[in-house]
Amino acid sequence: MMSLLTMIGAAAPSKEATFWMPESASTVAPMVDGLMDFINIVCYIFFALVVAALFYFAIKYRQREGDYTFDSDGPTHNMALEITWTGIPTIIVIVMFWLGMQTYMDLRTAPANSYDVNVTAQKWSWTFQHPEFAVTEANELTVPANRPVRLIMASQDVLHSLYVPAFRVKQDVVPGRYTSLWFEATEPGTYQLYCAEYCGKDHSLMLATVHVLPWDEYQTKMGKLAREYEDIPDSQLPAYAINRLYNRCASCHSLDGSSGTGPSFKGLWDRTVNGTTEFTNGQSVGDLSGPGGEYELAENYIRSSIVQPQRHVVQGFTGAMPSFQGQLKERQIDALVLMMKHLDQVVDADGNIIESPNLGGDDAAEPEQEGASE
Ligand code: CUA
Repeated sequence: MMSLLTMIGAAAPSKEATFWMPESASTVAPMVDGLMDFINIVCYIFFALVVAALFYFAIKYRQREGDYTFDSDGPTHNMALEITWTGIPTIIVIVMFWLGMQTYMDLRTAPANSYDVNVTAQKWSWTFQHPEFAVTEANELTVPANRPVRLIMASQDVLHSLYVPAFRVKQDVVPGRYTSLWFEATEPGTYQLYCAEYCGKDHSLMLATVHVLPWDEYQTKMGKLAREYEDIPDSQLPAYAINRLYNRCASCHSLDGSSGTGPSFKGLWDRTVNGTTEFTNGQSVGDLSGPGGEYELAENYIRSSIVQPQRHVVQGFTGAMPSFQGQLKERQIDALVLMMKHLDQVVDADGNIIESPNLGGDDAAEPEQEGASE
C-alpha cells in the first residue's frame, strides 16, 4: 500500500511546490502528498460523475411543452443499484482510512536512532537545544540531512504549535507536558518554521528558520556553535549579541524606536543611565540608581530585566516578558548588556543591523560604566 502512495506522490515531481502543496523535503512528504492526491482524484471523479448525471437527468426528464402526464408507477427499489452505490464508496473510504492510518502511525513513531532536539516555545520565540552538542539556538534550527530528527517540545506559557510545511509535520506544544514530532529531511537547504496555533498578539511573528546540512558539515557547524560565545573576543560581543541573540527579543523589542509588546531597545541604555525609565509601581530607574541603589550600575538594570523581567515593569507595558534565567549563559548576558551599551555601533539610525560593524578594537571591551557611549 505504501509503495502505491509513494508512487502517486512521485508522479508529481516531489521537490518543487505544486498547485496544492508547498515544496517537499522530508521522507514522509511523499506519503502525505500521495494520500492528498489520492483523495483529491477520487473527489474529482465523483464530482464529474455526479454533475454529468445531474445534467443528463435534467435534460432527459425535463417537462415538455403540452405534456402534463404524471408517471406514477416508476421503479421504487433496485437491489443491485443499492448494493453498488453503498459497496463501492464503502470500499474507497476504507482504503482512505487504511492509507491515512498508515501515514499517521509513521508520523507518530520516531525511529530508534533519532537525533533529539529539545524545543522550548514561549511568547513569541522558539529555543532549540541540542544535547548531543551542548548547543542552544534561538529561532534557528540546524538539523542534519538524511537522519531522523525528533523534537521534544515544551511550552513556557500557552499553547503553541510547531509547523514545518516543507516537511509536512505539525504538532501542538502544550504547557505542562512534553509533546514530540519527528522528521527526516532529505534535501539540504533552508525551510520556514511557523507557530500554527494562535498564541497572542505577536503569534504571526513567532517564526524560525530550519537549516538542513549534510552530516559532516552539520558536525562542523555544531562544533562552532558550541564554542561560539566563548571564542568571541570581548570586543565582538555586541555584534555577537545583535546577530545571534537579538532574534529572541525581536518580536517584542524594536531597534528603531517604535513601541512593541516591550520597549524599544533604541535609546534604552541612555534612558537607563539618565534614570528616566519609569516603572508601573511609580518608581523610576533614577530612584533606584545612585550609590548603594539596586541599579547603581546601569548594567544591573539590564541584567535584572533579562532574568527577572517582572521585578520592575516599564510604564505603559504589560509585563508580558518571560524570564530568560537559565536559558542564557553569563557571557551571553554580558554580551546583551554590551549590546545595549554600544547599540549605536551595531545598529544604524533606522534600526537596521549593521552587517560588519567597526567596533573599534579594545575600547568596546571595557565592561565598566562610563555613561552613554556618545
Ligand atoms: Cu506561538 Cu502562535
